[in-house]
Amino acid sequence: MTDTGKTRTVRVATESRSYDVRIASDLIQDIGSTIQNLTSAKRCVLVSGEHVFPLYGELALKSIRSAGLDVAEIVFPAGESTKGLTCYGELLNYLSEQRLTRSDCLVTLGGGVTGDLGGFAAATYQRGIDYIQVPTTLLAMVDSSVGGKTAINLPSGKNQAGAFWQPLCVLCDTEMLHTLPERELRAGYAEVIKYAVMGDADLFDHLQLRDISTEEVIETCVKIKAEIVAEDERDTGRRRLLNLGHTFGHAVESISGYELLHGEAVAVGLAMISRSAVKMGKLDPFSRDAILRLLQDYGLPTGPEWDAEELFGLIRADKKLTSGKLHLIVPKAIGWCEIVALNMHELRYWLEAAYD
Ligand code: NAD
Ligand code: GLY
Repeated sequence: MTDTGKTRTVRVATESRSYDVRIASDLIQDIGSTIQNLTSAKRCVLVSGEHVFPLYGELALKSIRSAGLDVAEIVFPAGESTKGLTCYGELLNYLSEQRLTRSDCLVTLGGGVTGDLGGFAAATYQRGIDYIQVPTTLLAMVDSSVGGKTAINLPSGKNQAGAFWQPLCVLCDTEMLHTLPERELRAGYAEVIKYAVMGDADLFDHLQLRDISTEEVIETCVKIKAEIVAEDERDTGRRRLLNLGHTFGHAVESISGYELLHGEAVAVGLAMISRSAVKMGKLDPFSRDAILRLLQDYGLPTGPEWDAEELFGLIRADKKLTSGKLHLIVPKAIGWCEIVALNMHELRYWLEAAYD
């Protein structure tokens, strides 16, 4: 369901920067004026992906040029492997070849892969330049473009090199979701369901009833995220809640050789932690069944199809291990989760409990 006409704006106020996330159709035409209003940039580099650029690249470039800026573009292959050292190096070199200065600006136009890569380049080129996120997937609109987590993957694991670097603005043009492949849209809903289970039982009900517009879904999720990152920008406390489904999910994503999309892996992770939570006496079985049903209704996998021992090995290598403890996000009811610190022995127990 979509609604038209109205622009929804959510303010994200973090310690390092405050900015707006704007949600509406046709926002692509506002990229240029947004840069003009927020910066003194003279030049701009647009970072995009091979599927997105042919669809929206010219419109974005036109908007930037009509605001009187010089613009150059760089387009990367689609897929998670773009979020690696090779493309990161290529992008930094390109920014340098284009003689981008610290007062200039970068624009990311794409899904989470483009946003994470472009954001990390913006965070590190000349010790940090301004950037604007123009997310083009549902997942990127509700999650990855907001909150300033930027990263690339290393051979040793996902998001192993990164920075907290907030954008100047996020423009969610919902019109662009019409060209998003169905499977990618479903993957985005995994993160939406994550928000609902984590902190919004009303959203959960609306998703069940399917009586909520896409714009409203995005606004609701961004509001939840904005509230959390305002309190914990650097992920040392409450922001960990946003990792619901991700501890097991990241391992599943990696073990699938990235055959599973990020959102699909999060869906499996969410299903697994819901099963464990019931076995550990933290969640009631009715809520678990409602979560599994909702994931399945949105066409998402609920696995797990992989060996617990192999998953355990991968989780052990997870970057979120602090002093031998890992923070697992556990649902206690729909709309309510808690952060549980576990040692490796306890974690293995929780993981095994995810298998029926
Ligand atoms: P993605 O960026 O790989 O995009 C998915 C696919 O859809 C790609 O093939 C892309 O070319 C195509 N596409 C994108 N927009 C399109 C459109 N409008 N029309 C047609 N095709 C389109 O995937 P994603 O799910 O957006 O992002 C996943 C990445 O995001 C992962 O790397 C994940 O780790 C990261 N992530 C980061 C955060 C964060 O906080 N930074 C949060 C969640 C996920
Ligand atoms: N996607 C998790 C976070 O931004 O913290």
